[in-house]
Amino acid sequence: MSSSTVQQIKDKLSIVDVVGSYIKTEKAGANYKARCPFHNEKTPSFFISPSRNSYYCFGCAMKGDIFTFVQDFEKVDFLGALKILAERAGVPIVNEKPEVKTERDRLFSVLEEATKFFEKNLEFTKDGEEGGVVSVAGGGESNNVKSAKKYLLSRGLTEETITDWRLGYASPEWRLLLENLKGKGYSESDMEKVGLIKKAEPKEGGISGQGISNQSGHAEVRYYDRFRGRVIFPLFDPSGRVIGYSGRILDDNGKEAKYLNSPDTPLFNKSEILYGYHKAKHDIRKRDYSLLVEGQMDLLMSHQSGFTNTVASSGTALTLDHLIKLNQISSNLMIAYDADRAGLSASLRAWANALSLGMEVKIVSLPAGEDPASLILEDSDKWKNCLRSAKHIIDFYLGILIEENRVNPDERKLWKEVEKKVLPYVRVLPSAIQRSHFISRISDATDIPIKALTEELEKIQANESETKNGTSGYVDRQTSGFQNESDKKAAQDDKEKNIGSLSNHPSLKRLKAIIAWKSDEEVRKSLESILDSAGLRDLLIINPDDKAELAVEAEVVYEGMTDLLLKEDIESLLYRLEEDVIKDRLSKSMTAMHHAEKENNADKMVLLRVESDNLFKQLSALQKKLKSG
Ligand code: CTP
Ligand code: MN
Repeated sequence: MSSSTVQQIKDKLSIVDVVGSYIKTEKAGANYKARCPFHNEKTPSFFISPSRNSYYCFGCAMKGDIFTFVQDFEKVDFLGALKILAERAGVPIVNEKPEVKTERDRLFSVLEEATKFFEKNLEFTKDGEEGGVVSVAGGGESNNVKSAKKYLLSRGLTEETITDWRLGYASPEWRLLLENLKGKGYSESDMEKVGLIKKAEPKEGGISGQGISNQSGHAEVRYYDRFRGRVIFPLFDPSGRVIGYSGRILDDNGKEAKYLNSPDTPLFNKSEILYGYHKAKHDIRKRDYSLLVEGQMDLLMSHQSGFTNTVASSGTALTLDHLIKLNQISSNLMIAYDADRAGLSASLRAWANALSLGMEVKIVSLPAGEDPASLILEDSDKWKNCLRSAKHIIDFYLGILIEENRVNPDERKLWKEVEKKVLPYVRVLPSAIQRSHFISRISDATDIPIKALTEELEKIQANESETKNGTSGYVDRQTSGFQNESDKKAAQDDKEKNIGSLSNHPSLKRLKAIIAWKSDEEVRKSLESILDSAGLRDLLIINPDDKAELAVEAEVVYEGMTDLLLKEDIESLLYRLEEDVIKDRLSKSMTAMHHAEKENNADKMVLLRVESDNLFKQLSALQKKLKSG
């Protein structure tokens, strides 16, 4: 990416237009103001300056240019923002010469090429045009392609949906994609890295008969296409770039996996991807709720029937990552999973996580044996009615238990089930008011006295602090209610994610960008001392793969800026980061104090009090400096 591309984009797009296309702005003298999209506020403190081509929020100190705005608003990385803005400005992104292309660029580009290949195979892109899969039989459209098309249409998808979502088809042959991409100059190594091809294992008997073994019989690494004889659903990152695939066999005979997904690759991580997020995010924000379904087909049908705020978890359990991402754009979550699966233990934990993040979680009840895709295919009004009758998750599970008890009255069982399946959700609600609201609802519905429910709730909480091994933070609270053996590893991952919130700090990222750009030793040292204080020195490490991208980011933002202004900016970035590092430590210290208090551990409390007093002092000193500076 040349920086002149970036400059061209900056010249063509005004900050007022770009920001104005996302949020409502109003004129305020020479500037514009708006309610800040990055923090909650009722009166506008977000200012946009057309003359300086930048924005600044007096409430939360977010600031930047069109690129940072798109990054933060759309939750994309710098290159993602570049892609969005380049399209908008009508500036073509000129690819660099192959030898200076970073590995990431190359991987994206091989996936793009493969996606085009799969799309073309399906022949939906250009109506009536011949071509597509090189048919073995020769002449016209192969039977495979015909049945792939027929299949998708029979599931109720329109041609428009199929094209919009870039669905494709992979023929059953073994090396068609591989040969095609090779012919275009892509290396097998890159194809393998993104999961498009696999090494043939010598043992795989079937393969030699399929033209994989080489003629001479010498042992030699041979690759073959991973996706064969499947309908292809490309999976996208938040800015709409293809990062992987899910392939469905046409005829579900139970012998092969119905869906085959890309393996984890440098670009694709199963636990991060939410299918459809790149298209749904705007409408999630606009409608202020996200609709979560399980499968690709559910998602496509839901979008097609007008619910363009739908995302899909694509068969994997919903992770904390997913939830944090959704919660950033709306804290209302509506879940429409197959009836039998919404209650599985992996899901229970996910729903509890959502509640403990402060999200409002509703469950859609689907008729037995139906999923959103099948329901919409029958009649999209049925789908709408289901959505209308969605219930708060606690009411939903409570309702099921009450109904079971009505059919088969058994008070002891009812109490037990409430304890096991409903109270854990109440427990994770962050608001005490909400907790007591649901306690009285449960009491009303079950005749269990409020006192008994409250005691039970406290018992669960007490058990937890015993079994806990000393770490603090909200993640513990939210996972342990449903924890079992298989959840332990996930809980560990979650703990690492907790540190992750600082690793994604916008100021940290920008400072690293400056270091990557100028190798500024002074900045590096200041950053190190801030991170060191919190034992987070590792966050300073710049992944070599990211370095080039970071450097471009800094260059874009600071190009042409005087040294003095740059210095000021660095200072304010350092302040903002330090402030959040201290706040983070403070909140951990307070949580630990809370626990120590419960355990009546006086010694620990004294130590923690000293620590948090110190942190408070540091924080207010810093904030004073910030105001005067
Ligand atoms: N899935 C998967 N691997 C499987 C089965 C399912 O990854 N072997 C994922 C897919 O993302 C799929 C989702 O789980 O879209 C939902 O699975 P399921 O409900 O079993 O799929 P169906 O609704 O039966 O799928 P389809 O509608 O395509 O028949
Ligand atoms: Mn399904």
